[in-house]
Amino acid sequence: MGDYLVNLGANQTVRSAIKKIGLPIPLPQKLNRVKKAWSERPLADKPIFVCHGSTSFLAPFLAETLPRAGADTWVVGSNALLETYQKCGEPWGRHPNKEIPPDIKPHGLVFDATGIRDPKALSSVYDFFHAHIRNLAPCGRAIILAEPPEVAKEPMAAAGLRALDGFIRSLAREIGKRGSTAHLVVVEGGAESRIGPVVTFLLSSSSAYISGQQVRVSNASKCEPAPFSRKSLESKVALVTGAARGIGASIASVLAREGAHVICMDRPSELDSLNTLAGNILGTAFEGDITDDNVSSRLLQLLKDKFHGGLDIVVHNAGITRDKTLANMKSEYWEQTLDVNLISLIKLNEALLPLIRTDGRIVCVSSVTGIAGNMGQTNYSASKAGIIGYVKALAPTVEKKGINVNAVAPGFIETKMTAGMPKGMREVARRLCNLVQGGMPEDVAETVTFLATKSAAGLTGEVLRICGGSYLGA
Ligand code: NAI
Repeated sequence: MGDYLVNLGANQTVRSAIKKIGLPIPLPQKLNRVKKAWSERPLADKPIFVCHGSTSFLAPFLAETLPRAGADTWVVGSNALLETYQKCGEPWGRHPNKEIPPDIKPHGLVFDATGIRDPKALSSVYDFFHAHIRNLAPCGRAIILAEPPEVAKEPMAAAGLRALDGFIRSLAREIGKRGSTAHLVVVEGGAESRIGPVVTFLLSSSSAYISGQQVRVSNASKCEPAPFSRKSLESKVALVTGAARGIGASIASVLAREGAHVICMDRPSELDSLNTLAGNILGTAFEGDITDDNVSSRLLQLLKDKFHGGLDIVVHNAGITRDKTLANMKSEYWEQTLDVNLISLIKLNEALLPLIRTDGRIVCVSSVTGIAGNMGQTNYSASKAGIIGYVKALAPTVEKKGINVNAVAPGFIETKMTAGMPKGMREVARRLCNLVQGGMPEDVAETVTFLATKSAAGLTGEVLRICGGSYLGA
């Protein structure tokens, strides 16, 4: 399934010709995506410019994070902070600097805005990004770190903090055509030491199709964070529902690539593809319809027989659409969609919860439609919004056990499900986002896999949109 505009835009001669003639054709940037298994140094040799506000306090954590991930770091502003970065860079063979060579194009621009409350102090944010954004490399990243809104005691401070959200969303719109993305990382008090892997993920090519996102890092979960590493899911057992094709197949493959043994589950009608996938990734095929009454008891039996009665990662991905405007929607369409996408998901999850081991992970696949709503999808939107409600309510109840629960909300992803859309609608859906293109199943898979690792210890009860910064539901 190719996107002809992405393919056209990848040809530099065509790109220049279209620009020269001034044709009004949006030419999306081909995104830099992960091509192999994760390493300890996902930012190897990527130039990152980092700047700290005068009252900010995350320097020790970023100084530890960026060189460890392999980045070449330039510290804009303070000499004292440069020393902190140089000290932390030494063991990793990195030598953070201050003098930026004129020809360098940064891959990442990181601004630590913690401590900023007064809207007047936002000028330092403007100064940093204004000076460097023009030089940001294609598929680059802009990140602001800030405190959560509840630290604001005065309306003025609340305004200052909220302003950062508007700034980053607009910046994401401006830089999206070149494949670049911008994010706001909100750091709760006490969670400072958990920001490293989250910032690394957002700067890496694993987050290629996430744009204009606000991510909140907390220390709610008892699970201790770990830096990015190779094969971090080794010895973990994962279950992926709806694994026979599309996004589910990709999630199963990426989890396996990072070391997990994956139980691939799908409907009996998909058995052939399921067996092929499970064979390819050395996983286990499990034939089962999630709406069947006996499916959880059969699954529990399999876990008992073959996996010491437990599992570590559950990805609820199976989903269907039955689109019709409400007035034309038959009750079967309503029932089926709610049953597969929400009610059976919850039933299965409740049955599995007692078997999920300490440091376990649950990831539910929602949709931006569950955030923004969509014409002809009252049933689907209700089910996908219900997933978000479930995840947010469940997270605090399992955090003592070190289990993190999150949702991902894909936008337009190129799969068999979206290939069935009318051509015109498909084209519009692709273009209506900051990155002017659809996402790939692996974009969802990389994020789900990150959420399944210990690196994502700081994220629970979160909803990560994987939608290229969709104009709908942003
Ligand atoms: P897909 O239709 O290609 O794959 C869905 C898989 O779920 C299929 O293998 C199917 O057999 C399985 N499945 C359906 N009902 C099942 C049941 N009762 N029991 C067991 N397995 C069942 O869909 P796609 O695009 O890969 O979507 C995967 C998930 O991502 C779904 O939850 C979907 O709602 C969600 N999503 C997809 C988006 C897209 O643009 N493709 C956008 C937003 C969310």
